[in-house]
Amino acid sequence: MGTSKVSFVIVQLFAFFTWHAIAQEYVRMASNTNAAEAMQFLREYDREASGMCYRVTMSQWRFVTNITEYNRRRMLEELALNSKFERLSWRKAAAYDATRVSDVQSRRQLVKIVQGSRAALPEDKFNEIQQIITEMKEIYNAAKICPYGQKPYDSHLQRDSPFYPQSRQEPYDQTRSHTQDIYQPFGPGFPHETPENSNYCDMQLDPEISRILAHSRIESELVYVWKSFREQTGPKMKNRFMRYVQLANQAAVSTGYSDAGDQMRASYEDPSFRASLEEIYNQVAPLYKQLFTYVRRKLIQRYGERVVRPDGPIPAHLLGNMWAQNWKSIMDLVMPFPQAPNIDVTSEMLRQGFTPLRMFQMAEEFYTSMGMKPAPPEFWRGSMLARPAERSVQCTASAWDFCNRIDYRIKQCTEVTMQDLVSTHHEMAHIQYYLQYAEQPQLFRDGANPAFHEAVANAVTLSVYNIQHLQRVGLYNNRTHDPYQVSMNFLMTMALEKVAYLPFAFMVDQWRWSVFEDGVQNMNSRWWQMKLRFQGVIPPMQRTEADFDPGSKYHVISDQEYIKYFLGTVLEFQLYEQLCQAAGQAGHLHECDVYRSRDAGRLLSEIMQPGASKTASEIIRTMTRGRTNRISPESLVRYFRPLELWLRVQNRDEPLIGWSSNYQDIGLFAPQRGHGIKATYSMVLLVLSMMQFLFL
Ligand SMILES: *[C@@H]1O[C@H](CO)[C@@H](O)[C@H](O)[C@H]1NC(C)=O
Ligand SMILES: *[C@@H]1O[C@H](CO)[C@@H](O)[C@H](O)[C@H]1NC(C)=O
Ligand SMILES: *[C@@H]1O[C@H](CO)[C@@H](O)[C@H](O)[C@H]1NC(C)=O
Ligand SMILES: [Zn+2]
Repeated sequence: MGTSKVSFVIVQLFAFFTWHAIAQEYVRMASNTNAAEAMQFLREYDREASGMCYRVTMSQWRFVTNITEYNRRRMLEELALNSKFERLSWRKAAAYDATRVSDVQSRRQLVKIVQGSRAALPEDKFNEIQQIITEMKEIYNAAKICPYGQKPYDSHLQRDSPFYPQSRQEPYDQTRSHTQDIYQPFGPGFPHETPENSNYCDMQLDPEISRILAHSRIESELVYVWKSFREQTGPKMKNRFMRYVQLANQAAVSTGYSDAGDQMRASYEDPSFRASLEEIYNQVAPLYKQLFTYVRRKLIQRYGERVVRPDGPIPAHLLGNMWAQNWKSIMDLVMPFPQAPNIDVTSEMLRQGFTPLRMFQMAEEFYTSMGMKPAPPEFWRGSMLARPAERSVQCTASAWDFCNRIDYRIKQCTEVTMQDLVSTHHEMAHIQYYLQYAEQPQLFRDGANPAFHEAVANAVTLSVYNIQHLQRVGLYNNRTHDPYQVSMNFLMTMALEKVAYLPFAFMVDQWRWSVFEDGVQNMNSRWWQMKLRFQGVIPPMQRTEADFDPGSKYHVISDQEYIKYFLGTVLEFQLYEQLCQAAGQAGHLHECDVYRSRDAGRLLSEIMQPGASKTASEIIRTMTRGRTNRISPESLVRYFRPLELWLRVQNRDEPLIGWSSNYQDIGLFAPQRGHGIKATYSMVLLVLSMMQFLFL
């Protein structure tokens, strides 16, 4: 999603190009057939929307780089104005019959304004759903738990006061997001009155709880934080979430979709979208199962068969992450060659006297070396490249487009580490994207679909976090170690982050769409059913419908679609391989570096320049020189091929590649409707439905 322009993106998000899906209600409105008037409206819209976007973005920038109550109020005022503007523009745009507009680009813009929005709701309901989402975010951001092994103190101190430090960043997925969650009312370090004893039950997801999950190897402690965080989030939001589902569906139906999931999927402009996703999942599942099986063996060595069954699913609290979505923190347990190093050039950077500024200059040079654009002077004047000493700021790295074709900035509390060097190149890729599509109209200054921005930025970082590249820029030297062992360790690190993530990134919206489509009954049980089916994980203790475990994931309760992360991760490797081919690199994919390749730079510019003015499938067709118009996981599978071969050897004596689930696994979350026959019956149905997954 496009950064700071989030509220604009809301209108852009779900646009769908074909008109046949639109319901009568909306078609009845779209009665103005005067194409010239429609074009005139779009010209005015472009000017006003850019101006509005500039003011909102600037107010957000001022707040997140200087967190004061005054700046927060200013930002909320701008957001309210923006919300009004959105509703007004929606009404105007919806009055035109876009089918009468012959110019394809204008038609596409009209569709973008109308179809992603919830502005079809009556005003009170439009405000209500926004209010509900804000409340859920506040509850989430206020969640705190007591330290392990200590009793909770008086609960009146754990109040959800609006002035309580709402100091959570949006948990980032894969690499850091370039998006700003503009509705997030507070940032870290927001001035607050600290209740006495505050250090007692004051552990937040970020950083304390996440740190425990990443580094603790005491099983009972992992169980404790896993469970406690879920107690402090889901159940408090469940009722609000059910109302949110109702309103989102109502908005979708009034806009011409069958439900809110249908509306979310429309932005991908693919009539067989769900089938395409399923196909991609099935293509990566064999690789995932090899990784899964190897990791399960290592977890058994650490925790024993009492905790992990040799052919069973993995309990979700053992994988180093609250949602079992990124396993890189358990690298110490699964490292292929512990005697060979993990690549980390941090100490070399320090030895060479790197500074944050030098890291950004190096990232800029990466793009100019490929013949792409340098960052403009405004970038160097306006950006926040390191944490300022004198004021409190929100530190999540992000890249900003101020919608005026002049001002682009990055906010990052850069430290001299390899991770931040990679992140710097990633954020600079977003800036490059902004610069490349700057001449497009406002509505098209975005990725071709919601997956594109992150995918492009991550594709570039594959070329930076890369043994060859780090050697070329003089930060890594391989003299002392076996290159095969170094490569396997490297690929394992990448797999724990990317391959382990795919089933999770796939299942979140499968679940969400099923709730929009089939209703809110047994939401928690369905969540775990999908976790088990796609990820092969089970909860470490009994779950019921009084729990609401999806509510422990920020993107679920904050109304942010998730499938873009799944597609983005797949697309990232596909883009990367195309760039590598353009650069004429024929070796192992994980060793390809496109630095200094003018041909790769030309291709990347071609991908970026159209922004959202073309469909993703058109851009993929261009990028693959006509070979395909589909997102495909073949490149990802190829990238990990050497590791997969190694894993197959490690797993040769395993009883089962993948997992089989038994009655007990399913009993952990089967719905307990009533007693006796009814419950047994639904249990049997569930077991039967799980069985079929085993034989897929
Ligand atoms: C931070 O914001 C306040 C307004 O609340 C303003 O007076 C101050 O000058 C700002 N500081 C910086 C460094 O921009
Ligand atoms: C991809 O191209 C095929 C024809 O080769 C077409 O039928 C299909 O609709 C295109 N897919 C998308 C998503 O546009
Ligand atoms: C170091 O890297 C170079 C270039 O990648 C390679 O040719 C060489 O064999 C490596 N040396 C060792 C000892 O691994
Ligand atoms: Zn990003």
